[in-house]
Amino acid sequence: MDHRDYMDEARGLNAPAPQAAPAAATGAEKEDFKHIGKGTNRVDGREIVTGRARFTQDIKLRGMLIGKILRSPHACAEVVSVDLRPAQALPGVLAALKLAEGKVRYAGQQVAAVAAVDERTAEKALALVKVEYRPLPFVVDWQRARDPNAPQVRDGKPNLDKLNDYSRGDVEKGFREADVVLQRTYRTGFEIHHPTETHASVAEWEAGQLTVYDSTQAVHGVRDGLARALGIPAANVTVIKKYMGGGFGCKLGLNEHTVVAARLARETGRPVKIVLSRRDNAVCVGYRPSSLQTYKAGVKKDGTLTALSLVNYASGGLGAGDSCAEPVVDVYKCPNCKVEEHTVYTNTGASRAMRAPGHTQGALGLESLMDELAAALGMDPLELRRKNYSTRSRGDTGLPYSTKGLDRCYEAGAKAIGWERRNAEPGAAAANGPWRRGLGMATSIWFGAGTPGTLADLVLYPDGSVEIVCGTQDIGTGTRTHMAVVAAETLGLEPKDVTVKLGNSDYPWAPISGGSLTTPSVAPAVRDAALKALEQLKQVAAQLLKAEPADVVMGDRKFALKSDSDKTVPFADVYRALRRETVFHGERAGHPGNEYAFNTFGAHFAEVEVNVETGNIRVLKFVAAQDSGRIINKLTAESQVHGGLMQGLSAALFEERVLDDATGNPANANLGDYKIATMADAPEITPLFVDVVDERLNNLGTKGLGEPARVAASAAVANAVFNALGVPVREIPMTPPRVLEALRRKEARS
Ligand code: MOS
Repeated sequence: MDHRDYMDEARGLNAPAPQAAPAAATGAEKEDFKHIGKGTNRVDGREIVTGRARFTQDIKLRGMLIGKILRSPHACAEVVSVDLRPAQALPGVLAALKLAEGKVRYAGQQVAAVAAVDERTAEKALALVKVEYRPLPFVVDWQRARDPNAPQVRDGKPNLDKLNDYSRGDVEKGFREADVVLQRTYRTGFEIHHPTETHASVAEWEAGQLTVYDSTQAVHGVRDGLARALGIPAANVTVIKKYMGGGFGCKLGLNEHTVVAARLARETGRPVKIVLSRRDNAVCVGYRPSSLQTYKAGVKKDGTLTALSLVNYASGGLGAGDSCAEPVVDVYKCPNCKVEEHTVYTNTGASRAMRAPGHTQGALGLESLMDELAAALGMDPLELRRKNYSTRSRGDTGLPYSTKGLDRCYEAGAKAIGWERRNAEPGAAAANGPWRRGLGMATSIWFGAGTPGTLADLVLYPDGSVEIVCGTQDIGTGTRTHMAVVAAETLGLEPKDVTVKLGNSDYPWAPISGGSLTTPSVAPAVRDAALKALEQLKQVAAQLLKAEPADVVMGDRKFALKSDSDKTVPFADVYRALRRETVFHGERAGHPGNEYAFNTFGAHFAEVEVNVETGNIRVLKFVAAQDSGRIINKLTAESQVHGGLMQGLSAALFEERVLDDATGNPANANLGDYKIATMADAPEITPLFVDVVDERLNNLGTKGLGEPARVAASAAVANAVFNALGVPVREIPMTPPRVLEALRRKEARS
């Protein structure tokens, strides 16, 4: 899924037409909720921590073969010939495929594949495939790729391409009206998703019917993609994903190796498993594009913004870069705004959406700029943000926000971190040996309204058991648990009483687990099904009690009459009277997206300590205040925030893919050389939820959280470093050399 498709999904533009009419949130019940909004342990937690949960890599089928893929060592080459015969002649090899025709355009692109009885034989066979390449000029350095004389990555097309244009008002007029005009450039590097579990697919054919176990964020998307790629009906494909160790965007949609597994399985008549290596994961399945963002801002002495402009160069290899403009266009009240963004193509695997694509980069740029503006005005950075608070989208010129709890996030976050402890003037930190402390904060906006038309079935069994069936997937975030919480809440049960079935494309349709869509899509569909089931149960109870359904109320594992509370019938009797299992279809209804803007908001606060001799940074504290509507399960919501902040910390301090300009291959394609934050780097973390229930959005008033938890974290760290040192680093990751370089800039100035 490329950036544009992904953003359409996140914005809800690809949503199927819902059959149900918009339903108002039943917010009045909030105080009565027993499970919703509380902390429920993961219903599958025991399975996962004891190693019993089956991940795709754990799948073993009878007669299963191992598939392996040979990849190009060249960043650009003509594939002159591929000779599979020596590989095919090796005993134990059952199939070999040629995958490359003509040119390969990045180091890591598929060239050939084999299926063999075991891993060793498959590896030996790969080494026997004879490929003749004619190497061609290439460019992997995106700065160099901008040179008109650089090798052309896409035949006959320039490496530089327009990505996004936006304009409102008149920025030149705005700059003229300003008391202070500041122009600053910020850079963000390439981050790799690196989920704990690498990609894996297992394919099996049976009588023309294809079943694929896949580590994916989109069982329905992979089903449809496989059907297209193989030229078979979608009805003949089932995609299953039971448990998964993360994705962050690199497992959205169909992957090439999955098609290869299906082809090898078809050719051999046996199941085939392909597992991507850590190196493949670093090279072939995407990354967050880089950005080079130049902002210009005009501001009055009192902090009122008069104009904002952004020129951005984003590099996404063979794919488009991310647009980083959403924050500058949307977050602050500003009548004049202009954006110009370009993609730079290189001979590198295509980028992919990565947790809040474009927004983490844009937040780093815009929010760093806001702090530099505040310093120039001698203003509190938080006050500057409040001064330019908007209540409508597009910088206060678009649709009104249905709800916006950002002001509450600012207040709660500032209080929790102790905002008054920051250095009133950046760099005025008291010396503690070589260490200087600072506090910083940053704002986020994201989508997270969910997808109308999402389906979930609820099944009541006469033995009293309850099942939820939905073709969503739990990518590690706790989806099973929130589904059980909503069903249990509605039917007067405990979450552990509810059986949740998900991760299968034969189940009712649900969108990608991405774009912060899952909870606001799935929870309302489950709620809808459960409310319908409750109505039916009340009907049956009314018959048993010889009363009117309207007179029936739910009690503790029994139904009772409002008019006579002594008249009761236990749940068990009511369920038994159903006689057969009964299915209730739930649907996530539509919301008035043409009247209101539905967004999520948040404010991240960080406290850091910077060593002015070594350039090392330690994050001491994080506070995240999130407005994601009603929180369904506090425990898993807090987990999301912990993970998002840690990824933001990691990107701010450590993560950066390095490519070797001479060969086009990565220099740090493993987890030893590519640095990711560990528990040793984890600060004290305080997640806060302001719980602004959005009555217009869905029947629970809930919004997404996965990406909002990540958006502003790196920027908050960068601003805390600025507050500690009095000089901004302006580039992430803020490695020790970059910190020391910033300090030298400061010295040169004074
Ligand atoms: Mo994502 S980039 O929402 O997995």
